Amino acid sequence: MTPPPPDPPPAGPGAAPPPGCPAHGLGPGGVQRLYGRAASAAPAALYERLRARHGAVAPVLLEGDVPGWLVLGYREVLEVTRDPHRFSRDGRNWTEWRRGRVLPDSPIAPVLLWGPDCTHVDGAAHQRLRGAVHESLQRFDRRALRRWTRTAAHGLIDRFAADGRADLLGQYARVAPTLTLTRLLGVPEPLGPGLAEASRQLLIGTERAVTSDRHIQQVLHRLVLSRHEAPGHDLASWLIAHPAALSDDEVKHHLRLVLVAANESTTNLVANTLRLVLLHPVFRGSLLDGRMTLSEAVEQVLWDEPPIAVCPGGFALRDTDLGGRRIRGGDVLLLGLAAANADPLVRPRAGALMHGNRSHLAFTSGPHECPGQDIGRAIAETTIEVLLSRLPDLAPAVAAGELTWSSSTWSRHLDALPVVFTPRPPRPAGERERGAAPEPPAVRDPNAARARGAAGRAPGARVRRPAPTVRAALGVRAALGRLRGR
Ligand code: HEM
Repeated sequence: MTPPPPDPPPAGPGAAPPPGCPAHGLGPGGVQRLYGRAASAAPAALYERLRARHGAVAPVLLEGDVPGWLVLGYREVLEVTRDPHRFSRDGRNWTEWRRGRVLPDSPIAPVLLWGPDCTHVDGAAHQRLRGAVHESLQRFDRRALRRWTRTAAHGLIDRFAADGRADLLGQYARVAPTLTLTRLLGVPEPLGPGLAEASRQLLIGTERAVTSDRHIQQVLHRLVLSRHEAPGHDLASWLIAHPAALSDDEVKHHLRLVLVAANESTTNLVANTLRLVLLHPVFRGSLLDGRMTLSEAVEQVLWDEPPIAVCPGGFALRDTDLGGRRIRGGDVLLLGLAAANADPLVRPRAGALMHGNRSHLAFTSGPHECPGQDIGRAIAETTIEVLLSRLPDLAPAVAAGELTWSSSTWSRHLDALPVVFTPRPPRPAGERERGAAPEPPAVRDPNAARARGAAGRAPGARVRRPAPTVRAALGVRAALGRLRGR
Protein backbone atom coordinates (compact mmCIF):
# COMPACT_ATOMS: atom_id res chain seq x y z
CA MET A 1 0.00 0.00 0.00
CA THR A 2 1.07 3.63 -0.35
CA PRO A 3 3.75 4.37 2.22
CA PRO A 4 2.13 6.76 4.71
CA PRO A 5 3.92 9.89 5.87
CA PRO A 6 5.79 9.02 9.09
CA ASP A 7 4.82 10.52 12.40
CA PRO A 8 7.65 12.33 14.19
CA PRO A 9 9.96 9.86 15.99
CA PRO A 10 10.15 9.85 19.78
CA ALA A 11 12.73 12.28 21.17
CA GLY A 12 16.27 10.92 21.38
CA PRO A 13 17.58 7.60 20.12
CA GLY A 14 15.72 4.68 21.70
CA ALA A 15 13.86 6.98 24.09
CA ALA A 16 10.60 5.49 25.34
CA PRO A 17 7.73 7.97 25.17
CA PRO A 18 6.22 8.88 28.54
CA PRO A 19 2.83 7.32 29.43
CA GLY A 20 -0.05 9.10 27.73
CA CYS A 21 2.21 10.40 24.97
CA PRO A 22 0.72 10.04 21.48
CA ALA A 23 3.96 8.38 20.36
CA HIS A 24 2.91 5.25 22.28
CA GLY A 25 1.71 2.54 19.92
CA LEU A 26 3.65 3.66 16.89
CA GLY A 27 5.00 0.93 14.66
CA PRO A 28 7.48 0.81 11.78
CA GLY A 29 7.63 4.09 9.87
CA GLY A 30 5.98 5.86 12.79
CA VAL A 31 2.56 4.55 11.72
CA GLN A 32 -0.06 4.19 14.46
CA ARG A 33 -0.84 0.66 15.59
CA LEU A 34 -4.56 -0.02 15.89
CA TYR A 35 -3.89 -2.81 18.38
CA GLY A 36 -2.00 -3.29 21.60
CA ARG A 37 -2.17 -1.61 25.01
CA ALA A 38 -1.52 1.93 23.84
CA ALA A 39 -4.22 1.80 21.14
CA SER A 40 -6.83 0.22 23.39
CA ALA A 41 -6.27 2.53 26.37
CA ALA A 42 -8.35 5.38 24.97
CA PRO A 43 -9.65 4.58 21.49
CA ALA A 44 -11.76 7.74 21.08
CA ALA A 45 -8.75 9.96 21.79
CA LEU A 46 -6.68 7.90 19.37
CA TYR A 47 -9.24 8.39 16.58
CA GLU A 48 -9.25 12.14 17.18
CA ARG A 49 -5.43 12.26 17.08
CA LEU A 50 -5.49 10.38 13.80
CA ARG A 51 -8.17 12.72 12.42
CA ALA A 52 -6.19 15.78 13.45
CA ARG A 53 -3.04 14.45 11.85
CA HIS A 54 -4.34 12.70 8.71
CA GLY A 55 -7.89 13.91 8.07
CA ALA A 56 -10.71 11.57 7.07
CA VAL A 57 -8.57 8.55 6.16
CA ALA A 58 -5.55 7.52 8.23
CA PRO A 59 -2.80 4.94 7.68
CA VAL A 60 -2.71 2.38 10.51
CA LEU A 61 -1.10 -0.94 11.36
CA LEU A 62 -3.15 -4.04 12.20
CA GLU A 63 -1.98 -7.05 14.23
CA GLY A 64 1.34 -8.24 12.83
CA ASP A 65 2.00 -4.66 11.72
CA VAL A 66 0.04 -5.28 8.55
CA PRO A 67 -0.74 -1.89 6.97
CA GLY A 68 -4.30 -0.69 6.38
CA TRP A 69 -6.44 2.46 6.25
CA LEU A 70 -8.81 3.60 8.96
CA VAL A 71 -11.72 5.61 7.56
CA LEU A 72 -12.63 8.27 10.13
CA GLY A 73 -14.94 10.54 8.12
CA TYR A 74 -18.73 10.09 8.09
CA ARG A 75 -18.94 10.92 4.38
CA GLU A 76 -16.02 8.63 3.53
CA VAL A 77 -17.55 5.69 5.44
CA LEU A 78 -20.71 6.14 3.37
CA GLU A 79 -18.60 6.30 0.22
CA VAL A 80 -16.88 2.98 0.99
CA THR A 81 -20.01 1.12 2.13
CA ARG A 82 -22.09 2.26 -0.81
CA ASP A 83 -19.68 1.58 -3.66
CA PRO A 84 -19.13 -2.17 -4.10
CA HIS A 85 -17.65 -1.50 -7.55
CA ARG A 86 -14.67 0.23 -5.93
CA PHE A 87 -14.51 -1.60 -2.61
CA SER A 88 -15.06 -5.33 -2.46
CA ARG A 89 -15.77 -7.31 0.72
CA ASP A 90 -13.85 -10.30 -0.63
CA GLY A 91 -10.59 -10.67 1.32
CA ARG A 92 -8.99 -12.53 -1.56
CA ASN A 93 -8.45 -9.09 -3.10
CA TRP A 94 -6.16 -8.12 -0.22
CA THR A 95 -2.56 -7.60 -1.32
CA GLU A 96 -1.13 -8.29 2.14
CA TRP A 97 -2.92 -11.64 2.28
CA ARG A 98 -1.74 -12.55 -1.20
CA ARG A 99 1.80 -11.76 -0.09
CA GLY A 100 1.36 -14.23 2.77
CA ARG A 101 1.62 -11.53 5.44
CA VAL A 102 -1.69 -12.43 7.12
CA LEU A 103 -1.47 -15.89 8.60
CA PRO A 104 -4.61 -17.98 9.16
CA ASP A 105 -3.97 -18.00 12.94
CA SER A 106 -3.70 -14.22 13.19
CA PRO A 107 -6.40 -12.74 15.47
CA ILE A 108 -7.61 -10.60 12.56
CA ALA A 109 -7.90 -13.57 10.19
CA PRO A 110 -11.42 -14.74 11.18
CA VAL A 111 -12.81 -11.25 10.62
CA LEU A 112 -10.90 -10.07 7.56
CA LEU A 113 -9.98 -13.12 5.48
CA TRP A 114 -12.47 -14.51 3.02
CA GLY A 115 -15.07 -16.83 4.56
CA PRO A 116 -18.16 -18.52 3.20
CA ASP A 117 -20.72 -16.02 4.52
CA CYS A 118 -22.45 -12.96 3.13
CA THR A 119 -20.10 -10.44 4.76
CA HIS A 120 -17.29 -11.57 2.45
CA VAL A 121 -19.07 -11.44 -0.88
CA ASP A 122 -20.52 -8.82 -3.20
CA GLY A 123 -23.28 -8.48 -5.80
CA ALA A 124 -25.60 -11.36 -6.65
CA ALA A 125 -23.80 -13.83 -4.37
CA HIS A 126 -24.28 -11.42 -1.47
CA GLN A 127 -27.95 -10.83 -2.29
CA ARG A 128 -28.67 -14.57 -2.33
CA LEU A 129 -27.09 -15.25 1.07
CA ARG A 130 -28.16 -12.04 2.76
CA GLY A 131 -31.69 -12.49 1.39
CA ALA A 132 -31.90 -15.88 3.12
CA VAL A 133 -30.68 -14.44 6.43
CA HIS A 134 -32.77 -11.31 6.27
CA GLU A 135 -36.01 -13.06 5.30
CA SER A 136 -35.49 -15.72 7.95
CA LEU A 137 -34.91 -13.01 10.58
CA GLN A 138 -38.07 -11.26 9.39
CA ARG A 139 -40.08 -14.33 10.38
CA PHE A 140 -39.54 -13.51 14.06
CA ASP A 141 -42.30 -11.25 15.30
CA ARG A 142 -40.65 -8.34 17.08
CA ARG A 143 -43.26 -8.00 19.83
CA ALA A 144 -42.99 -11.68 20.59
CA LEU A 145 -39.18 -11.39 20.68
CA ARG A 146 -39.54 -8.64 23.26
CA ARG A 147 -41.84 -10.87 25.29
CA TRP A 148 -39.29 -13.63 25.09
CA THR A 149 -36.46 -11.32 26.19
CA ARG A 150 -38.59 -10.00 29.06
CA THR A 151 -39.07 -13.53 30.37
CA ALA A 152 -35.34 -14.24 30.19
CA ALA A 153 -34.52 -10.91 31.88
CA HIS A 154 -36.95 -11.51 34.76
CA GLY A 155 -35.47 -14.97 35.28
CA LEU A 156 -31.96 -13.52 35.60
CA ILE A 157 -33.04 -10.76 37.98
CA ASP A 158 -34.74 -13.36 40.18
CA ARG A 159 -31.31 -14.91 40.71
CA PHE A 160 -29.74 -11.80 42.27
CA ALA A 161 -32.67 -9.58 43.35
CA ALA A 162 -32.40 -10.66 47.01
CA ASP A 163 -28.63 -9.99 47.20
CA GLY A 164 -28.79 -6.20 47.04
CA ARG A 165 -25.71 -6.17 44.81
CA ALA A 166 -24.73 -7.58 41.43
CA ASP A 167 -22.33 -7.29 38.56
CA LEU A 168 -24.72 -6.12 35.88
CA LEU A 169 -22.33 -7.17 33.18
CA GLY A 170 -21.54 -10.76 34.14
CA GLN A 171 -24.90 -11.54 35.74
CA TYR A 172 -27.18 -9.69 33.38
CA ALA A 173 -26.08 -7.67 30.31
CA ARG A 174 -23.90 -10.46 28.97
CA VAL A 175 -26.43 -13.21 29.65
CA ALA A 176 -29.83 -11.76 28.77
CA PRO A 177 -29.16 -11.09 25.07
CA THR A 178 -27.42 -14.45 24.78
CA LEU A 179 -30.48 -16.29 26.08
CA THR A 180 -32.66 -14.69 23.44
CA LEU A 181 -30.16 -14.93 20.61
CA THR A 182 -29.07 -18.52 21.07
CA ARG A 183 -32.75 -19.46 21.32
CA LEU A 184 -33.38 -17.51 18.12
CA LEU A 185 -30.62 -19.52 16.43
CA GLY A 186 -32.08 -22.79 17.75
CA VAL A 187 -29.11 -23.66 20.01
CA PRO A 188 -30.05 -25.82 23.05
CA GLU A 189 -30.03 -23.59 26.16
CA PRO A 190 -27.14 -25.28 28.04
CA LEU A 191 -24.78 -24.61 25.12
CA GLY A 192 -25.67 -20.91 24.96
CA PRO A 193 -23.18 -19.43 27.48
CA GLY A 194 -20.21 -21.38 26.02
CA LEU A 195 -21.08 -20.23 22.52
CA ALA A 196 -21.52 -16.63 23.64
CA GLU A 197 -18.10 -16.65 25.33
CA ALA A 198 -16.49 -18.16 22.22
CA SER A 199 -18.04 -15.48 20.02
CA ARG A 200 -16.74 -12.85 22.44
CA GLN A 201 -13.21 -14.21 22.12
CA LEU A 202 -13.55 -14.15 18.37
CA LEU A 203 -14.73 -10.57 18.26
CA ILE A 204 -12.23 -9.35 20.84
CA GLY A 205 -9.57 -10.94 18.65
CA THR A 206 -7.64 -12.65 21.45
CA GLU A 207 -5.16 -15.46 20.91
CA ARG A 208 -8.14 -17.77 21.60
CA ALA A 209 -9.99 -16.39 18.55
CA VAL A 210 -9.10 -19.28 16.29
CA THR A 211 -9.88 -22.12 18.76
CA SER A 212 -13.09 -20.34 19.77
CA ASP A 213 -14.09 -20.21 16.14
CA ARG A 214 -13.52 -23.96 15.83
CA HIS A 215 -15.76 -24.58 18.86
CA ILE A 216 -18.54 -22.38 17.45
CA GLN A 217 -18.43 -24.18 14.14
CA GLN A 218 -18.59 -27.62 15.75
CA VAL A 219 -21.66 -26.72 17.82
CA LEU A 220 -23.40 -25.12 14.86
CA HIS A 221 -22.57 -28.04 12.57
CA ARG A 222 -24.33 -30.39 15.02
CA LEU A 223 -27.26 -27.97 15.22
CA VAL A 224 -27.73 -28.01 11.44
CA LEU A 225 -27.72 -31.81 11.37
CA SER A 226 -30.27 -31.97 14.20
CA ARG A 227 -32.58 -29.43 12.53
CA HIS A 228 -32.68 -31.51 9.36
CA GLU A 229 -34.08 -34.31 11.52
CA ALA A 230 -36.41 -32.17 13.62
CA PRO A 231 -37.10 -28.65 12.32
CA GLY A 232 -38.22 -26.03 14.83
CA HIS A 233 -39.24 -22.36 14.96
CA ASP A 234 -35.71 -21.03 14.75
CA LEU A 235 -33.20 -19.48 12.40
CA ALA A 236 -31.37 -22.75 11.75
CA SER A 237 -34.56 -24.45 10.54
CA TRP A 238 -35.69 -21.47 8.50
CA LEU A 239 -32.32 -21.08 6.77
CA ILE A 240 -32.37 -24.78 5.87
CA ALA A 241 -35.87 -24.41 4.42
CA HIS A 242 -35.20 -21.14 2.57
CA PRO A 243 -35.75 -21.26 -1.22
CA ALA A 244 -32.20 -19.93 -1.79
CA ALA A 245 -31.21 -23.57 -1.09
CA LEU A 246 -28.20 -22.90 1.13
CA SER A 247 -25.82 -25.84 1.57
CA ASP A 248 -25.39 -27.15 5.12
CA ASP A 249 -22.04 -25.41 5.24
CA GLU A 250 -23.62 -22.10 4.21
CA VAL A 251 -26.34 -22.49 6.86
CA LYS A 252 -23.68 -23.17 9.51
CA HIS A 253 -21.62 -20.16 8.50
CA HIS A 254 -24.61 -17.83 8.56
CA LEU A 255 -25.64 -19.03 11.99
CA ARG A 256 -22.06 -18.31 13.06
CA LEU A 257 -22.25 -14.88 11.47
CA VAL A 258 -25.47 -13.99 13.29
CA LEU A 259 -24.08 -15.29 16.58
CA VAL A 260 -20.89 -13.26 16.30
CA ALA A 261 -22.45 -10.13 14.81
CA ALA A 262 -25.39 -10.08 17.21
CA ASN A 263 -24.28 -11.31 20.58
CA GLU A 264 -21.40 -9.13 21.63
CA SER A 265 -22.78 -6.01 19.98
CA THR A 266 -26.15 -6.32 21.71
CA THR A 267 -24.43 -7.02 25.04
CA ASN A 268 -22.24 -3.99 24.51
CA LEU A 269 -25.22 -1.79 23.74
CA VAL A 270 -27.01 -2.91 26.91
CA ALA A 271 -23.89 -2.47 29.06
CA ASN A 272 -23.00 0.96 27.72
CA THR A 273 -26.54 2.27 28.05
CA LEU A 274 -26.81 0.97 31.62
CA ARG A 275 -23.45 2.52 32.49
CA LEU A 276 -24.60 5.91 31.24
CA VAL A 277 -27.93 5.65 33.01
CA LEU A 278 -26.17 4.74 36.26
CA LEU A 279 -23.19 7.03 36.15
CA HIS A 280 -24.29 10.15 34.30
CA PRO A 281 -26.80 12.17 36.28
CA VAL A 282 -27.83 14.26 33.26
CA PHE A 283 -28.55 11.17 31.19
CA ARG A 284 -30.44 9.51 34.02
CA GLY A 285 -32.29 12.73 34.87
CA SER A 286 -33.41 13.17 31.25
CA LEU A 287 -34.74 9.63 31.21
CA LEU A 288 -36.51 10.00 34.54
CA ASP A 289 -38.25 13.28 33.81
CA GLY A 290 -39.30 12.13 30.33
CA ARG A 291 -37.09 14.46 28.31
CA MET A 292 -35.51 11.36 26.81
CA THR A 293 -37.20 8.04 26.09
CA LEU A 294 -35.36 4.76 26.51
CA SER A 295 -35.25 4.34 22.71
CA GLU A 296 -33.62 7.76 22.42
CA ALA A 297 -31.11 6.85 25.11
CA VAL A 298 -30.19 3.68 23.21
CA GLU A 299 -29.87 5.67 19.99
CA GLN A 300 -27.62 8.18 21.76
CA VAL A 301 -25.32 5.33 22.83
CA LEU A 302 -25.29 4.06 19.24
CA TRP A 303 -23.97 7.49 18.26
CA ASP A 304 -21.49 7.97 21.09
CA GLU A 305 -20.27 4.44 21.75
CA PRO A 306 -21.26 2.21 18.85
CA PRO A 307 -20.89 -1.42 20.00
CA ILE A 308 -18.65 -2.15 17.02
CA ALA A 309 -16.23 0.78 16.90
CA VAL A 310 -14.30 -0.40 13.87
CA CYS A 311 -15.53 -2.83 11.25
CA PRO A 312 -14.07 -4.28 8.05
CA GLY A 313 -14.90 -1.98 5.16
CA GLY A 314 -13.47 -3.80 2.18
CA PHE A 315 -10.57 -4.03 -0.21
CA ALA A 316 -9.95 -1.51 -2.97
CA LEU A 317 -10.51 -3.09 -6.36
CA ARG A 318 -8.31 -0.55 -8.12
CA ASP A 319 -6.25 2.55 -7.36
CA THR A 320 -8.64 5.22 -6.17
CA ASP A 321 -8.91 8.38 -4.08
CA LEU A 322 -10.70 8.56 -0.77
CA GLY A 323 -10.76 11.53 1.58
CA GLY A 324 -7.79 13.06 -0.24
CA ARG A 325 -5.70 9.87 0.05
CA ARG A 326 -4.40 7.69 -2.75
CA ILE A 327 -5.58 4.15 -2.02
CA ARG A 328 -3.92 1.36 -3.97
CA GLY A 329 -5.87 -1.56 -5.44
CA GLY A 330 -5.66 -4.41 -2.89
CA ASP A 331 -5.41 -2.13 0.18
CA VAL A 332 -7.67 -2.95 3.14
CA LEU A 333 -10.01 -0.30 4.56
CA LEU A 334 -11.49 -0.41 8.05
CA LEU A 335 -14.58 1.63 8.87
CA GLY A 336 -14.08 3.74 11.96
CA LEU A 337 -17.74 3.80 12.98
CA ALA A 338 -17.14 5.46 16.35
CA ALA A 339 -14.91 8.07 14.72
CA ALA A 340 -17.34 8.71 11.86
CA ASN A 341 -20.21 9.19 14.32
CA ALA A 342 -18.12 11.90 15.99
CA ASP A 343 -17.05 13.55 12.72
CA PRO A 344 -17.24 17.32 13.30
CA LEU A 345 -18.84 17.60 9.86
CA VAL A 346 -22.00 15.96 11.21
CA ARG A 347 -21.59 16.82 14.91
CA PRO A 348 -20.00 20.22 15.16
CA ARG A 349 -20.47 20.04 18.95
CA ALA A 350 -18.73 16.98 20.36
CA GLY A 351 -21.10 14.70 22.29
CA ALA A 352 -24.21 16.66 21.19
CA LEU A 353 -27.51 15.01 22.12
CA MET A 354 -29.06 13.52 18.99
CA HIS A 355 -32.62 13.15 20.31
CA GLY A 356 -33.45 9.83 18.68
CA ASN A 357 -31.89 10.67 15.32
CA ARG A 358 -31.01 7.37 13.65
CA SER A 359 -28.50 8.54 11.05
CA HIS A 360 -25.51 7.18 12.95
CA LEU A 361 -23.30 4.53 11.39
CA ALA A 362 -23.42 1.97 14.22
CA PHE A 363 -25.07 -0.45 11.79
CA THR A 364 -23.12 0.97 8.79
CA SER A 365 -24.90 1.64 5.53
CA GLY A 366 -25.17 0.25 1.99
CA PRO A 367 -25.77 -3.35 0.93
CA HIS A 368 -24.18 -4.84 4.06
CA GLU A 369 -25.99 -2.62 6.61
CA CYS A 370 -26.88 -4.73 9.63
CA PRO A 371 -30.08 -6.67 8.88
CA GLY A 372 -30.63 -7.46 12.57
CA GLN A 373 -30.74 -3.91 13.90
CA ASP A 374 -34.41 -3.97 14.88
CA ILE A 375 -33.84 -7.21 16.75
CA GLY A 376 -30.75 -5.77 18.46
CA ARG A 377 -32.67 -2.67 19.51
CA ALA A 378 -35.66 -4.69 20.70
CA ILE A 379 -33.50 -7.01 22.83
CA ALA A 380 -31.41 -4.16 24.25
CA GLU A 381 -34.36 -1.93 25.11
CA THR A 382 -36.33 -4.75 26.70
CA THR A 383 -33.36 -5.95 28.74
CA ILE A 384 -32.80 -2.45 30.13
CA GLU A 385 -36.49 -1.67 30.63
CA VAL A 386 -37.09 -4.81 32.72
CA LEU A 387 -34.07 -4.15 34.92
CA LEU A 388 -34.94 -0.52 35.59
CA SER A 389 -38.53 -1.37 36.41
CA ARG A 390 -37.64 -4.27 38.73
CA LEU A 391 -34.77 -2.48 40.52
CA PRO A 392 -35.56 1.24 40.26
CA ASP A 393 -33.02 2.32 42.88
CA LEU A 394 -30.00 0.76 41.17
CA ALA A 395 -26.83 2.69 41.99
CA PRO A 396 -23.23 2.19 40.90
CA ALA A 397 -21.05 0.40 43.45
CA VAL A 398 -17.88 2.00 42.09
CA ALA A 399 -16.93 5.38 40.66
CA ALA A 400 -16.79 5.77 36.87
CA GLY A 401 -12.99 5.97 37.00
CA GLU A 402 -12.74 2.54 38.62
CA LEU A 403 -14.43 0.71 35.75
CA THR A 404 -12.09 -1.30 33.54
CA TRP A 405 -12.33 -2.19 29.88
CA SER A 406 -11.01 -4.75 27.44
CA SER A 407 -10.40 -3.53 23.93
CA SER A 408 -9.50 -4.86 20.54
CA THR A 409 -9.19 -3.34 17.11
CA TRP A 410 -12.94 -3.81 16.67
CA SER A 411 -14.54 -2.81 19.95
CA ARG A 412 -14.23 -1.89 23.59
CA HIS A 413 -15.95 -3.86 26.34
CA LEU A 414 -16.66 -3.10 29.96
CA ASP A 415 -15.20 -5.83 32.20
CA ALA A 416 -17.76 -5.44 35.00
CA LEU A 417 -20.54 -3.10 36.12
CA PRO A 418 -20.98 -3.52 39.90
CA VAL A 419 -24.20 -2.08 41.36
CA VAL A 420 -26.10 -1.99 44.64
CA PHE A 421 -29.85 -1.76 45.22
CA THR A 422 -32.49 -2.47 47.84
CA PRO A 423 -32.77 -6.27 48.15
CA ARG A 424 -36.10 -7.56 46.91
CA PRO A 425 -37.61 -11.03 47.00
CA PRO A 426 -37.65 -12.87 43.66
CA ARG A 427 -41.02 -13.08 41.92
CA PRO A 428 -43.50 -15.57 43.40
CA ALA A 429 -42.99 -19.15 42.22
CA GLY A 430 -46.17 -19.15 40.09
CA GLU A 431 -45.06 -16.12 38.12
CA ARG A 432 -41.58 -17.56 37.66
CA GLU A 433 -42.92 -20.87 36.37
CA ARG A 434 -45.13 -19.09 33.90
CA GLY A 435 -42.05 -17.29 32.63
CA ALA A 436 -39.70 -20.26 32.79
CA ALA A 437 -40.51 -21.66 29.39
CA PRO A 438 -41.29 -18.78 27.09
CA GLU A 439 -43.21 -19.70 23.99
CA PRO A 440 -41.27 -19.35 20.75
CA PRO A 441 -41.68 -15.97 19.09
CA ALA A 442 -44.69 -15.95 16.79
CA VAL A 443 -44.01 -16.63 13.16
CA ARG A 444 -44.62 -14.05 10.50
CA ASP A 445 -45.67 -15.01 7.00
CA PRO A 446 -42.35 -15.71 5.26
CA ASN A 447 -43.82 -14.93 1.85
CA ALA A 448 -44.72 -11.44 2.98
CA ALA A 449 -41.15 -10.91 4.13
CA ARG A 450 -39.81 -12.28 0.87
CA ALA A 451 -42.06 -9.98 -1.11
CA ARG A 452 -40.50 -7.06 0.72
CA GLY A 453 -37.16 -8.02 -0.79
CA ALA A 454 -33.80 -8.92 0.72
CA ALA A 455 -33.45 -5.57 2.40
CA GLY A 456 -36.88 -5.93 3.99
CA ARG A 457 -38.51 -3.13 2.06
CA ALA A 458 -40.75 -2.99 -0.96
CA PRO A 459 -38.69 -3.28 -4.14
CA GLY A 460 -37.64 0.17 -5.21
CA ALA A 461 -38.79 1.76 -1.95
CA ARG A 462 -36.51 4.42 -0.46
CA VAL A 463 -34.88 3.75 2.88
CA ARG A 464 -36.91 5.72 5.36
CA ARG A 465 -35.36 6.22 8.75
CA PRO A 466 -37.97 6.76 11.45
CA ALA A 467 -38.44 10.39 12.27
CA PRO A 468 -36.76 11.48 15.50
CA THR A 469 -39.22 11.68 18.34
CA VAL A 470 -37.76 14.97 19.52
CA ARG A 471 -36.36 17.40 16.98
CA ALA A 472 -32.58 17.14 16.66
CA ALA A 473 -30.54 20.31 16.46
CA LEU A 474 -31.32 21.78 13.08
CA GLY A 475 -27.70 22.34 12.09
CA VAL A 476 -26.82 18.74 12.76
CA ARG A 477 -29.82 17.44 10.84
CA ALA A 478 -29.07 19.67 7.90
CA ALA A 479 -25.46 18.48 7.82
CA LEU A 480 -26.53 14.83 7.97
CA GLY A 481 -29.13 15.37 5.28
CA ARG A 482 -26.52 16.90 2.99
CA LEU A 483 -24.12 14.02 3.49
CA ARG A 484 -26.67 11.19 3.25
CA GLY A 485 -28.19 12.75 0.15
CA ARG A 486 -24.95 12.39 -1.83
C1 HEM B 1 -27.07 -3.50 18.68
C2 HEM B 1 -26.69 -4.58 18.10
C3 HEM B 1 -25.99 -4.68 16.77
C4 HEM B 1 -25.05 -3.87 16.20
C5 HEM B 1 -24.45 -2.60 16.76
C6 HEM B 1 -24.73 -4.45 14.92
C7 HEM B 1 -23.82 -3.91 14.04
C8 HEM B 1 -23.48 -4.49 12.83
C9 HEM B 1 -22.45 -4.00 11.96
C10 HEM B 1 -21.58 -2.77 12.20
C11 HEM B 1 -22.39 -4.83 10.89
C12 HEM B 1 -21.42 -4.74 9.70
C13 HEM B 1 -22.09 -4.13 8.51
C14 HEM B 1 -21.12 -4.03 7.34
O1 HEM B 1 -20.34 -4.95 7.13
O2 HEM B 1 -21.15 -3.00 6.64
C15 HEM B 1 -23.39 -5.85 11.08
C16 HEM B 1 -23.65 -6.85 10.18
C17 HEM B 1 -24.52 -7.86 10.39
N1 HEM B 1 -25.36 -8.00 11.49
FE1 HEM B 1 -25.53 -6.72 13.05
N2 HEM B 1 -25.47 -5.57 14.74
C18 HEM B 1 -26.26 -5.74 15.85
C19 HEM B 1 -27.18 -6.74 16.06
C20 HEM B 1 -27.45 -7.75 15.17
C21 HEM B 1 -28.45 -8.75 15.38
C22 HEM B 1 -29.35 -8.84 16.62
C23 HEM B 1 -28.40 -9.58 14.30
C24 HEM B 1 -29.22 -10.80 14.00
C25 HEM B 1 -30.13 -11.32 14.79
C26 HEM B 1 -27.38 -9.08 13.40
C27 HEM B 1 -27.03 -9.65 12.19
C28 HEM B 1 -26.07 -9.15 11.33
C29 HEM B 1 -25.71 -9.78 10.06
C30 HEM B 1 -26.27 -11.07 9.49
C31 HEM B 1 -24.73 -8.96 9.47
C32 HEM B 1 -24.04 -9.17 8.10
C33 HEM B 1 -24.78 -8.36 7.02
C34 HEM B 1 -24.15 -8.42 5.65
O3 HEM B 1 -22.93 -8.57 5.52
O4 HEM B 1 -24.91 -8.29 4.66
N3 HEM B 1 -26.83 -7.96 13.97
N4 HEM B 1 -24.04 -5.62 12.26
